[in-house]
Amino acid sequence: MAAPPPPPAARQKILCVGLVCLDIISVVEAYPAEDTDTRCVSQRWQRGGNASNSCTVLALLGAPCSFMGSLAPGHAADFVLADLRRYAVELCHVVLHPRCSFPTSVVVASASRGTRTILHANSDLPDVTARDFEKVDLSQYKWIHWEGRNASEQVKMMDRVEEHNRAQPPGRRVRTSVEVEKTREELFQLFGHGDVVFVSKDVARHLGYGSAAEALRGLRGRVRQGATLICAWGEAGADAVGPGGELVHSDAFPPDAVVDTLGAGDTFNAAVIFALSEGQSLQEAITFGCRVAGRKCGVQGYDGIV
Ligand code: ADP
Ligand code: FRU
Repeated sequence: MAAPPPPPAARQKILCVGLVCLDIISVVEAYPAEDTDTRCVSQRWQRGGNASNSCTVLALLGAPCSFMGSLAPGHAADFVLADLRRYAVELCHVVLHPRCSFPTSVVVASASRGTRTILHANSDLPDVTARDFEKVDLSQYKWIHWEGRNASEQVKMMDRVEEHNRAQPPGRRVRTSVEVEKTREELFQLFGHGDVVFVSKDVARHLGYGSAAEALRGLRGRVRQGATLICAWGEAGADAVGPGGELVHSDAFPPDAVVDTLGAGDTFNAAVIFALSEGQSLQEAITFGCRVAGRKCGVQGYDGIV
């Protein structure tokens, strides 16, 4: 007799693989000129990193989620771990590297224009590997999302999920998504993997596209057959092309005042994943993504976006 399926609650989790870092955010009225001395409106520490930010948003949306990434011990690690616990994000796949330093970003956030200027120090912390990922019990997750980083290793992780899925009935397959956000050539191999591929405006522009729709037309041939390609474009909203080639668009939902766009893309990704994992259509999912990301732009941080 076949093994009984895991209890439904055990398969509700979403796993995000990628970066957690410390964001030291200085909110200023206007972006300062070089070699000047500016008094900030406020300053704060905030947990950052695309995958970790997406976990925050998933947790706020009520989705049980798990973070997988590397950590180096110290005050910053204590701070981010406490914050992840505050959102009840599962931490059993965090990999500790005792002799490394913790990645940190210094962020200048302009309150008047809502821009965020990020200075990121990557540190010597290695990313999680396919070996680390072998320990993940895939049957626990309904969706796994990768923030594109160490792409060759991540392809191996995604292949492992593919192999797992081949042995599962359709209702028990793990759905996958990947984000190609940075313009590093190594990351572009990720286009060919995953059920859903998020490509950033930065990458689209770098490849010569002037709009989300243009990027989808140019890049849809690079995703595997039946995959979905999604491109968010700041205040222009987001476009997507679905498994059957259907094109969808959502306008942005600008808040009364744009005060903080740090993590808007991570918010969009999380909300889209949440909606798709709940069975919503692609049109509904990108509209929901823009709605939640728009609310995020109207507040400092993430609390209050749902
Ligand atoms: P990031 O720069 O963080 O990667 P994007 O510019 O790709 O983020 O934006 C992601 C989503 O956030 C957009 O699709 C949009 O819905 C929302 N968004 C971003 N900037 C704004 C803005 N200025 N006004 C309204 N919505 C915005
Ligand atoms: C926002 C973010 C920040 C982090 C930076 C790393 O998308 O994840 O939290 O400092 O990007 O590139």
